[in-house]
Amino acid sequence: MKSIHDAVDHKLFSEEDIDEMTTRLGKQLTKDYAGKRVLVVGALKGAIFFMVDLLKKMDLPCDIDFIDVSSYGNGTESSGKITVTHDLEADVTGRDVLIVEDIVDTGLTLKFMKDEMIKRGAKSVKCCVLLNKTARRTTEVEVEYYGTHVGNEFVIGYGMDFAGLYRNLPYVGVIKPQVVEEFSKKHENDN
Ligand code: IMP
Repeated sequence: MKSIHDAVDHKLFSEEDIDEMTTRLGKQLTKDYAGKRVLVVGALKGAIFFMVDLLKKMDLPCDIDFIDVSSYGNGTESSGKITVTHDLEADVTGRDVLIVEDIVDTGLTLKFMKDEMIKRGAKSVKCCVLLNKTARRTTEVEVEYYGTHVGNEFVIGYGMDFAGLYRNLPYVGVIKPQVVEEFSKKHENDN
């Protein structure tokens, strides 16, 4: 049987690297939000692995909720169009909101979510992302907390997918170009 690990060209961040990042970020958030009850908003589906590990490192009273804002089709390039496909249950009015994201690429998704929380009356809106792909930023958006920088490569694992797959790899790796090519060939007549 084919392993999901076969889709990985090389590992970028091991489970230990990720643990170090979540520990550091969790400590910082515990300090910065001391005395507050935080509404932690996870961006589905990519953020769930990171969100769970981060929350366990935050010594704070937290509410959790989820939003799905999708700007990606099935490939590796953003469509640029953003829609809310799953909305929050919580009322964010007057709340300190912390958005948790897996990766910030162009910044469009994060900017949309931050603006949306402000529009809905949040008291404060900050974000915590695992990977910051600064080279591809097209929108100015503040990334208050992040695990580390990542270059202009398409990564999979620890929540991040390619065409819906590989989220359950326990580490972050760069996808094999052949996997992307095979997918493109199979779907070249789709549009
Ligand atoms: P942005 O709106 O361009 O910043 O895109 C953000 C979203 O695109 C992230 O939440 C991811 O779901 C997805 N994304 C961007 N880069 C990657 C990547 O390298 N691997 C997997 N998903 C990615």
